[in-house]
Order: sequence, then C-alpha cells, then structure tokens
Amino acid sequence: MRPSDLKIPVEGNECQAFIYDRLLRVPKVLEKKFEFPGWQHPDLFGNGNKVQIEYCSGNGGWIASKAAEDPTKNWVAIEMRVGRSRKIWSKIKNLQLSNLFIVHGEGYKATKELFPSASVQNIYINFPDPWPKRRHSKYRIIQPAFVAEMSRILLPGGTVTFVTDDEQYSEWTIEIFSKSEIFSSDYPEPYYCLEWQDYGTSYFEDLWRQQGKIVRYHHFRKL
Ligand SMILES: C[S@@+](CC[C@H](N)C(=O)[O-])C[C@H]1O[C@@H](n2cnc3c(N)ncnc32)[C@H](O)[C@@H]1O
Repeated sequence: MRPSDLKIPVEGNECQAFIYDRLLRVPKVLEKKFEFPGWQHPDLFGNGNKVQIEYCSGNGGWIASKAAEDPTKNWVAIEMRVGRSRKIWSKIKNLQLSNLFIVHGEGYKATKELFPSASVQNIYINFPDPWPKRRHSKYRIIQPAFVAEMSRILLPGGTVTFVTDDEQYSEWTIEIFSKSEIFSSDYPEPYYCLEWQDYGTSYFEDLWRQQGKIVRYHHFRKL
C-alpha cells in the first residue's frame, strides 16, 4: 500500500479530533470537546502494554522498526505533517503493525489537551527541526512547558531520549532539562554520548551521517 492510497477522512481546517483506523487526528484548533479514550481502548491498542511515544516521527522509519522488533510494547508516532503521517500509516499497513498508532497533529498540543497523566513509559525525540536562527528558537519543540507536559504523562522513572546533530539545540535542551528539576541526566557532564549501540536509525540520521555530522544522544530520567 502506498501513502497516497490512504486518505484521512477530514484534512485541512476542520476543528474536530477523531480516531480512524489507527490514527488520531488532532486539529490546530480543537473546537469540539474530544474525550481521549485511553491507550488501552480497542480503537488504540486494546491492551495494557507499556506505551512508548516518539515525537516528530517524520516518515516513521525509526519507530516502525522498533514496533516490529518489540511487539510487547505499544508505540505512538506523533507527526504534524499530513504527507509524513500517511507514510507512517502505510508502514503500519504494509508491516501489519498492530502495536503502532499515529497521532497526526502538533506534539505539545496533543499532549497537553489529550494524553493522560502517568501513562507513558518512555519518550523519544529523534532529530527534531533545529530552528537554528535565534529569533526562530520559539518554534523548537523543546520548551519548558513541553518538558513539564512530558513529565506529567511519564510514569515514575520514565525517560526522555533526545537525539540531534545540532550542537546549539543540544545545549538548549540540556539547559531546559537541567532547570526543570523534574529530570536528571543519565549521562554525566557533558550530558550526552556520541554512540548508542542498536539505537536504530531514521531518514534524517542517515542523511546527516552521510554528510559527516556528529550525533548526540541525551537521556533524561523523571525523578
Ligand atoms: C527533521 S524531521 C525528523 C524526522 C524523523 N524523526 C527522522 O529522524 O527522520 C522533523 C519532523 O518533525 C515534525 N515536527 C516538527 N515539529 C513538530 C511538532 N511540534 N509536533 C509534531 N511534529 C513535529 C516535522 O513535520 C518533521 O517531520
């Protein structure tokens, strides 16, 4: 099945959230109240396995491999672009991944408005857009309010793994997490490592490594 074969029933500006065929759509403006039914609901995973979230999933290469490798866990891909959400969707169909679910929408908004507290085991953010210009830094997904929301949805001892090739974004993220007082870094100073055996790869990781870029892995744990 190709991504273009898949159509989200309502796209564009419709202000309604809905679940359809392993995808939850979260519109920019949520006008009508939507009750998130919980990860265990049959329209989501239909079981109580531990939930892992990846924000900014892109075409879903990394998370689809993880879901295929470990069917004992439930995996949630969050992606705001419709074309990329469809690419993840086609992977669910083609690889028959009953443990992978898509949230098509903006990550902070979906988390704040819908996701239950203390319901997620681990969070991953792989190569989020770095927004390198200072005046654009407000568009980075890592912000104090988002870190607080991630802390709210994580179970005690839950982790956030953040992977980037961008030095400035690495420093920005370390500073925000260190100020949060809710998380501590599993890595001592400089608070990242340069290798993670068997972490898996993504489209953007392959692209940046081909260009000789160095990748930093950060690992923060909820206290
Ligand atoms: C540079 S790509 C990385 C994709 C993938 N993680 C990879 O490594 O190949 C960043 C992705 O994050 C998505 N994105 C950016 N900000 C987002 C947000 N606030 N919520 C959800 N998705 C977001 C973009 O649409 C894009 O697909």
